[in-house]
Amino acid sequence: MVSWAITGATRGIGSVDPKNQVFALIRSRGTAGPLEKLAAKRKNIHIVVTDISDPRKLDQATAEVSKVTAGSLDVLILNAGSAGPDTNALPPIKIDCSQIKNNLISNIYVIHSFLDLVRNGKEKKIIFISSQSGDVEVTRISGLPTMLGYSISKAGMNMVTTKFGIELAQDGIKTLSMSPGWVNTDAAQAVTGDPEIRKFMLSAFHKIDPSVNGPIPVDESVTAMLQVIQNLTEANSGKFLTHHGNDDEWF
Ligand SMILES: NC(=O)c1ccc[n+]([C@@H]2O[C@H](COP(=O)([O-])OP(=O)(O)OC[C@H]3O[C@@H](n4cnc5c(N)ncnc54)[C@H](OP(=O)(O)O)[C@@H]3O)[C@@H](O)[C@H]2O)c1
Repeated sequence: MVSWAITGATRGIGSVDPKNQVFALIRSRGTAGPLEKLAAKRKNIHIVVTDISDPRKLDQATAEVSKVTAGSLDVLILNAGSAGPDTNALPPIKIDCSQIKNNLISNIYVIHSFLDLVRNGKEKKIIFISSQSGDVEVTRISGLPTMLGYSISKAGMNMVTTKFGIELAQDGIKTLSMSPGWVNTDAAQAVTGDPEIRKFMLSAFHKIDPSVNGPIPVDESVTAMLQVIQNLTEANSGKFLTHHGNDDEWF
């Protein structure tokens, strides 16, 4: 049985359940209604409430997972993240640095806490859910100057993932940063719900891919990403890939 731990599993991309043993690491039960319903039906889903910005609480979460898995974890997925809807439209000079703390520093804490468990796992994979916003060329071509804090957090984590991939190769651990595509989650709807903003986003994304016509369903993104995770080997460890498993199909 393969064990998975996923941060930010209350809703959105993190909520779809891979088969096998799943530890859903969440910060609050307040938004976890659908997850709670699923966990009530499936004995293989374990809800662990933690705070990814607090290493002490993360160590408690790790101990909870360890008790069930006898000290191992096969796949760690760093999915928790937010672009901060309130700051979406701010220009670079108004950078919101809280995104860097929430989406970058906290993820490093999560890796530190779960590393020993991953070392003992069979799959030995650490996956970071990144974003097109963290890609320099996508940013340059789409011409979007907003969300600097979010973009830095994703670009920075891409580098963190690569560095850990190099360091941990000797332990057989593989790492990957992956953009999920443009996905129809609460976060995307908060932006695309406004027809004017949707039009603006589409016109920016058309510069990258003229065929994109809106966010894709969560299931489509997750199915594609699971395939990429399955194909992760030593040879492509440390890369930043799209949900299609390449470096140019962002949607
Ligand atoms: N949707 C897209 O088009 C898209 C595109 C590129 C990248 N992404 C990335 O994909 C990941 C999932 O996004 P999504 O679209 O599924 O967003 P979402 O629907 O807003 O869900 C985000 C999840 O992350 C959790 N989370 C956010 N900030 C957190 C924090 N500081 N501590 C703990 N948990 C936190 C949320 O928990 P609560 O329920 O407690 O808020 C929720 O479970 C994110 O990393 C996002 O940057 C998404």
